Amino acid sequence: MSKVATIEIDGEKYEFPVVEGTENELGIDIKKLRAEAGVITLDRGYKNTGSCESAITFLNGEEGILRYRGYSIEALAEKADFLEVAYLLIFGELPTKTQLDKFYADIKEESTVDEEMKKILDGFPKSAHPMGVLSSLTSALIAFNPSSVNVDSAEDMYKAIVKILGKFPVLAAWTLRKKNSLPLNYGDDSLGYVENLHKMMFEKPGKSYKVDKEVIDALDKLLILHADHEQNCSTSTVRMVGSSHAGLFASISAGISALWGPLHGGANQAVIEMLERIKEDGGDTKKFMAKAKDKEDPFRLMGFGHRVYKNFDPRAKIIKKSADEVLAQLGVDDPVLDIAKGLEKEALEDQYFVDRKLYPNVDFYSGIIYRALGIPVEMFTVMFALGRLPGWIAQWREMRLMKEPIGRPRQIYTGANLREFKEVEKR
Ligand code: ACO
Repeated sequence: MSKVATIEIDGEKYEFPVVEGTENELGIDIKKLRAEAGVITLDRGYKNTGSCESAITFLNGEEGILRYRGYSIEALAEKADFLEVAYLLIFGELPTKTQLDKFYADIKEESTVDEEMKKILDGFPKSAHPMGVLSSLTSALIAFNPSSVNVDSAEDMYKAIVKILGKFPVLAAWTLRKKNSLPLNYGDDSLGYVENLHKMMFEKPGKSYKVDKEVIDALDKLLILHADHEQNCSTSTVRMVGSSHAGLFASISAGISALWGPLHGGANQAVIEMLERIKEDGGDTKKFMAKAKDKEDPFRLMGFGHRVYKNFDPRAKIIKKSADEVLAQLGVDDPVLDIAKGLEKEALEDQYFVDRKLYPNVDFYSGIIYRALGIPVEMFTVMFALGRLPGWIAQWREMRLMKEPIGRPRQIYTGANLREFKEVEKR
């Protein structure tokens, strides 16, 4: 029998259906609450609000479980490649070889951007943060691809998806090339998606391009680990913007802006900056632990804590192991890795962190690998965006296919009551 929730307000009882997910999660469907009882729910930061039903990613924060379309993140990180995972997230099943080949061929077909886009990039100062540039360029793409906005048929939708998957790595690579004063380039269609991205980012004019397999494998794994994370801040932004039918590229551009902040994707940059600061300061991790616990001090231990995980972030476990391996394979000796490990150990034993269930999140170790791979700190969050792109697309597509209504939360108004307007001379 289906479950029912009863809410009592001023002695009056109201019944609401309880929705059950495939992993037995329960949610009270309150859409008729205001119409029947005249009240709304209030939930700052949506800490306890489900905004949709979704079949893409399952996350159990108490047990530290993460699955894409039913496959564990551990299995995907070990066995799949990024493009396979992208296909899985977007279309729901792992692709056959033929499906994957076609998908990649279609993406490659769309991997050039209009030459005029170079003028837009040229207008940015070199000091601009790559996330701001990337968000703007993604939005600018709409002007050159207007057919990506009205996606009324499955074919239109597919076209918009392969277009953004093809053009986004070019734009991401160009933001770096602009910073490094390198000529804007295109990749090589004979390479895989991730290797091609790497080539576009790092190839130097006049030099033959070579990269270690370990570097591409590590990058591929990092992108997979970031590929989706259900209804986080940037994904909810993508769905919210997309719910007005603004178009896929506009929704992704908004998602990039949401991801930029240090409380979200920007944490990977903030972690390295914090670890560097601790190193410069003499490496006294205890001093910074005390600062993190001091409520008068705005300092937070970046890369620690998560809205949903109240246990180890499973991605952090994989990345920590990967950081050790990659640094050893590349022969990199990074002292901040030792500071990070020391900080992690202290935090995991500290009552403040234990009481609040604060564990390392995905970003605690990712920056260390990015740095070992030669990616500059300001590009870390761009790497996150590249990884998250399939997740954003999958969530946007699901939202459109399920014909979700426009997102429009309510509020409890706490401002002034009706006041009489006074002319400026009388105020
Ligand atoms: N360092 C010190 N204290 C912390 C930290 C931290 N990193 N994170 C949370 N706390 C404390 C808070 O001060 C609060 O303490 P209180 O109960 O005494 O007031 C308690 O833990 C709960 O924290 P909230 O901020 O209420 O938790 P919320 O779910 O809103 O925030 C967040 C989660 C934003 C991730 C937070 O833990 C944080 O700021 N972490 C650092 C930034 C970071 O690493 N972000 C990346 C997240 S992963 C991602 O987006 C990909």
